[in-house]
Amino acid sequence: MGVRFQDKVAIVTGAASGIGRAVALGFAREGARLALVDRDVEGLRETAMEAGTALTFVSDVGAPGTAEADAAAVLTTYGQIDILYAAAGFSTGGTVLTTTPEDWDAVMRVHVGGTWLWARAVIPAMRRQGGGAIVTTASQLAIAGGAGNSAYIAAKGAILSLTRCMAMDFVADGIRVNAVVPGAIETPLLRRSFARRSDPGAAEASSVARHAIRRLGRAEEVAEAVLYLASDAASFTTGIALPVDGGWLAA
Ligand SMILES: NC(=O)c1ccc[n+]([C@@H]2O[C@H](COP(=O)([O-])OP(=O)(O)OC[C@H]3O[C@@H](n4cnc5c(N)ncnc54)[C@H](O)[C@@H]3O)[C@@H](O)[C@H]2O)c1
Repeated sequence: MGVRFQDKVAIVTGAASGIGRAVALGFAREGARLALVDRDVEGLRETAMEAGTALTFVSDVGAPGTAEADAAAVLTTYGQIDILYAAAGFSTGGTVLTTTPEDWDAVMRVHVGGTWLWARAVIPAMRRQGGGAIVTTASQLAIAGGAGNSAYIAAKGAILSLTRCMAMDFVADGIRVNAVVPGAIETPLLRRSFARRSDPGAAEASSVARHAIRRLGRAEEVAEAVLYLASDAASFTTGIALPVDGGWLAA
């Protein structure tokens, strides 16, 4: 694989862990100048060290004003913003009865709000430059459905709708907007979600069995799809939801 992002500036939210970290390292390997955002100071430092060099922002993606300030700092340092990958997120579990209003707000604020606020912060620069690529992070559960994670699944559905809407709103500006749709991917988020269940081992086994490929995915496998969607190789692709789900949605 050549170096696809040599002249590009990429921002990754949720870069301290899991899929965001794998994407950040993928961009770094392929020559991008990086700005990494996460609320986890230590994890962010580790990703930045592995990436070689990166601007880092210890920020809450859901806090109004933060994305704008961070994006302005990226522009001051690098002079351009070509790519945004929005991965920051977490889940709490719970039906509508067992999710607190506070958890509902927090999940919606981080996933939907964080994606919206960051898109809003980078689109003006992409417009001025004549184009850009935004990749959002949905979930197979937003398409197939799922139980016991009402706020998270609602948020992922909203991200899919927002992705398509942004793709249409900015197509004339040369900005492509696509979603990646991971299946169950081996990350700390997934581990925490299994640990919440009464029998974590059984929860994992049943998740593995839902994938036609019969295993959990790896963050690097999702990163490959994100890098593709962010690259010029995907120049005719906008408004899609690309599953990387081991066959979950086909089964
Ligand atoms: N792991 C899976 O099975 C799976 C499946 C489908 C979708 N996803 C999605 O992929 C994305 C990445 O998840 P992951 O599995 O790599 O999880 P992860 O927990 O490994 O990484 C998520 C990162 O987001 C950061 N984060 C959370 N809230 C934040 C906030 N308010 N501001 C800034 N940073 C914040 C965390 O600190 C963490 O570093 C999430 O959007 C998740 O919903 C994951």
